Amino acid sequence: MTAQIELKNIDKHYGAFHALKKVSLSIEKGSFVALVGPSGCGKSTLLRSIAGLETITSGDLHIAGKEMTGVPPRHRDIAMVFQSYALYPHMTVEENLTYSLRLHGVGKAEAKAKAAEVAATTGLSALLSRYPRQLSGGQRQRVAMGRAIIRNPKAFLFDEPLSNLDAALRVQMRKEIRALHDRLGATSVYVTHDQIEAMTMADWVVVMRDGVIEQQGRPLDLYDQPVNRFVAGFIGSPAMNFVDGVISEDGRGVVVGAGDRIPLARQAEPNRKVVAGVRPENLRVAEGAASFHFEVGNVESTGSATYLTSKDGALQLVQTERLGFSVGDRVGLDIDPALVHLFDPQTGARI
Ligand SMILES: Nc1ncnc2c1ncn2[C@@H]1O[C@H](COP(=O)(O)OP(=O)(O)OP(=O)(O)O)[C@@H](O)[C@H]1O
Ligand SMILES: [Mg+2]
Repeated sequence: MTAQIELKNIDKHYGAFHALKKVSLSIEKGSFVALVGPSGCGKSTLLRSIAGLETITSGDLHIAGKEMTGVPPRHRDIAMVFQSYALYPHMTVEENLTYSLRLHGVGKAEAKAKAAEVAATTGLSALLSRYPRQLSGGQRQRVAMGRAIIRNPKAFLFDEPLSNLDAALRVQMRKEIRALHDRLGATSVYVTHDQIEAMTMADWVVVMRDGVIEQQGRPLDLYDQPVNRFVAGFIGSPAMNFVDGVISEDGRGVVVGAGDRIPLARQAEPNRKVVAGVRPENLRVAEGAASFHFEVGNVESTGSATYLTSKDGALQLVQTERLGFSVGDRVGLDIDPALVHLFDPQTGARI
């Protein structure tokens, strides 16, 4: 595998503000990489740095093996797709698609042929003579994609391209973008703050916080083995539950308030203070006696699942069965010891 985009120790300062801190990332050719993280963590800054729209303060950036320092955006051979589609309102779909080709001196007939080809790929063939205002949000997004594809770039950079669309259309467009990526054999970097989008679309997920890459890996590896409490809480929906406790004398459980105990599959250091993490989907209502309890504060049923929230709001449980509990019920829970995560209360690091 060769890296199509290689970032080494990238730092970016905006004046005194340190927006990217020693970011290193290798993006393989043909891969679909998602950048996720809370608002302001530096996702767009990283993407814009790759595109050359921001100047990096220090570090190395290579695209297709070439060092990019001083290379202006238009010579990086990269296409960006934004949340606001940035279509030209006074141009038809066809003109929007061919604009950049014409700008680069491609002849009219050739540009037209290319537009037809791209329109077929993106499902726009019947819409070529329409204006952007005559298109739905999803169709506009497809034109933006088409405009990116037509130049056959070395990589696609997406900055929250679906956030203007309604929920159903987003789900559909996710699949379309991923399918298109696969068909074109493209290399894509996709920024989103929606971890579900990241998990479902990407081969490789990069979780950022405050300008730092907290963890990167395959989606399910991040879900199964988060390196710290932040990643554990960010990946997975609903979010992982966190419970403060102390490792028991025998080292095989976490003692939490009220004498409850969360079992562990391995020996931990007795009497150590920890934060135990358990995903809502890994809590089960116990059939018999239970070592861990919670008091129901809220019951929500979606039909396919029941969500129980504890009275103090700290814990959530999801089960696909319909559960006949009411507010105030005390519920015993089974916890699979193999699915309990432990974190250091101070550093948040996985134990
Ligand atoms: N031109 C600028 N001058 C100063 N600070 C900036 C500039 N652009 C961005 N920042 C700061 O850098 C940080 C990262 O911004 P960035 O746009 O990369 O965040 P983001 O992860 O894309 O967030 P969001 O999810 O809200 O889009 C933010 O704290 C932002 O305020
Ligand atoms: Mg952003």
